[in-house]
Amino acid sequence: MTHGHSMPPGSTFADVKKEIDRINQAAGSVEDFMWETVKLLHDRMLKYNWVGFYMLEDKSPGSQPRMLALGPFQGAMTPHTHIPLNQGICGAAATTGKTIVVDDVTLDNRYLACSTETKSEIVVPVFVRSNVVGELDVDSHFPAAFGDEDRKLVEYCASLVGKQLEKIAE
Ligand code: SME
Repeated sequence: MTHGHSMPPGSTFADVKKEIDRINQAAGSVEDFMWETVKLLHDRMLKYNWVGFYMLEDKSPGSQPRMLALGPFQGAMTPHTHIPLNQGICGAAATTGKTIVVDDVTLDNRYLACSTETKSEIVVPVFVRSNVVGELDVDSHFPAAFGDEDRKLVEYCASLVGKQLEKIAE
């Protein structure tokens, strides 16, 4: 590696926010922005070991509950490509429209395991004109990995996706 100066392997919140703003300006489509966002968070935030969007499907056949479908993500493939709204921490965040932070997933019986290594999780809803359309989910191999700054950062990313989706829905 030929870094001109010595950078720690992780990045500060301010650095990452700046990068997010840059890709928000430059991305060619919402989908590109979502892929670039999950990649950036996964690469630069050392405790963000799985980062992905789940988007609410328009309709489900018959009387099936509506589903969250896996969207752009970084990290190991998850068995949960579709999550019914009445399941998981993901379902709870989408249903309540509230950010959910779980410091210890073993103590939350809503938790759907994606990796046995996951210890903590944050799920942040994405809104379009006050309606939940999906969410940004981050899992960590470290317990209680998500503090206030993390919550602000993940909420910021989710809000930018919501704004971009609002723009194309105009
Ligand atoms: N843990 C989530 C499921 C998604 S995977 O972890 C990527 C949940 O409980 O809803």
